[in-house]
Amino acid sequence: MHMQLSGAPATLEDLTAAYADAHALYDALRARDRVTWDATGRCWLVTGHEATRRILADARFISDPTVVAPPARRPARRSFLSDAVQRQVIFTDGPRQEAVRRAVLVELARRQEALAGPLLEVARVLAERGRARGELDLLGDFAIPFSMEAISRIMGLPEVDEEEMARLERWSTTFANITSGYLQVDVTEVVQLGDYFRAQVAARGGTPSDDLIGAFLRDGGLDDEEDVVIQCMMAFAAGRVTTQKALGSGIPLLLPSWGEWRRQIAENPGSGRRLAEEILRVVTPTRYVARYAAEDLRLDGEDGREGPSIRRGDRVVLFLEAANHDPSVFADPHALEAARRPNPHLAFGSGSHRCPGASIARVEVQVAVQALLETLAQLRPHPHAAPAWEPNPNLGGYASYRCLCA
Ligand code: HEM
Repeated sequence: MHMQLSGAPATLEDLTAAYADAHALYDALRARDRVTWDATGRCWLVTGHEATRRILADARFISDPTVVAPPARRPARRSFLSDAVQRQVIFTDGPRQEAVRRAVLVELARRQEALAGPLLEVARVLAERGRARGELDLLGDFAIPFSMEAISRIMGLPEVDEEEMARLERWSTTFANITSGYLQVDVTEVVQLGDYFRAQVAARGGTPSDDLIGAFLRDGGLDDEEDVVIQCMMAFAAGRVTTQKALGSGIPLLLPSWGEWRRQIAENPGSGRRLAEEILRVVTPTRYVARYAAEDLRLDGEDGREGPSIRRGDRVVLFLEAANHDPSVFADPHALEAARRPNPHLAFGSGSHRCPGASIARVEVQVAVQALLETLAQLRPHPHAAPAWEPNPNLGGYASYRCLCA
């Protein structure tokens, strides 16, 4: 039997509802216990940095819920949607997942330097357009087109017109929403995204190209072409939506001291790397990840306390955002401090599923912020346009954030 802590300060539902700012709830949970049972959501909530790191490094916790799901909860009929969600390596464990993750890791590390220059140029063009217009929506005019361009170059996708770009943006958002547990009823867009990547894979005619799709074909150890299509959908959505949020929710953090950040970057261009790192920590684009206990177990305790007993099949929701604001690891945790060192944030997760796109994602955030700071002498919130929110409680950030550049 699980024991509900009397007067537990927050449930999963509370935490997901407070996606715009859950820090007070995280603080209350962390002060109580770093791993708390939520009887309403029937899952463990993890908010401490050390507990998060340990659980993500512990092979007794797995990412594939179907291994521990009771038979009645397994779908009798497979659809493309259930395949597309379940076969993504993000929800599997073992040699196939390791091979795909490794293929992404090697490919992106290899091309990181070659991509940095062109990506800086893309960001400069977008920033320059804003300067010329005197206005910039941080999402629609910058973070969205930049993240689309970046992931398209990473994957080796052909140039597309604005209409196609808007469609791909929508489809990838829908897929990321479904994957992150924020369900939507209209799933046709997932089928369309699958059709798009099936055509991209077919266009290579079995000859691996010099890009991420090629790396999946060559080194992914995947079962068949359909498997390649699904991992492409995953990388496209996982790589795009997170970058959009890092920038869309990260740049607003710079607005109150825009001139000061400009001065710092001008005097010390190398500081951009650490600023990007700190933006990733403060924003934490993937707010939480889930794991499932593969066996009955007892967690090691912290601070002399006994760790909780966890039952096989229990869901554990790890709030990376809470870990990244844990005051026992990060002094003044909500402040953006480019000089923060060390910065052991968990924005890319940790352990066997740690984001294999981290190297390129860091470059993306760095060059995008650098281009904006160098190009725009001023950037401030539009006085007559309130920012709008994307409702996905995990990956959603600002949907629109209009600024004036003069
Ligand atoms: C700011 C940008 C990004 C953030 C914050 C981010 C965050 C994450 C996190 C937290 C995970 C771990 C999920 C888990 O443990 O369950 C992950 C996994 C993954 N990410 Fe990223 N990501 C970013 C960019 C990218 C990019 C650019 C790519 C690829 C082009 C990418 C591809 C992947 C893949 C393939 C996985 C699955 C790895 C596995 O399950 O083995 N990500 N990402």
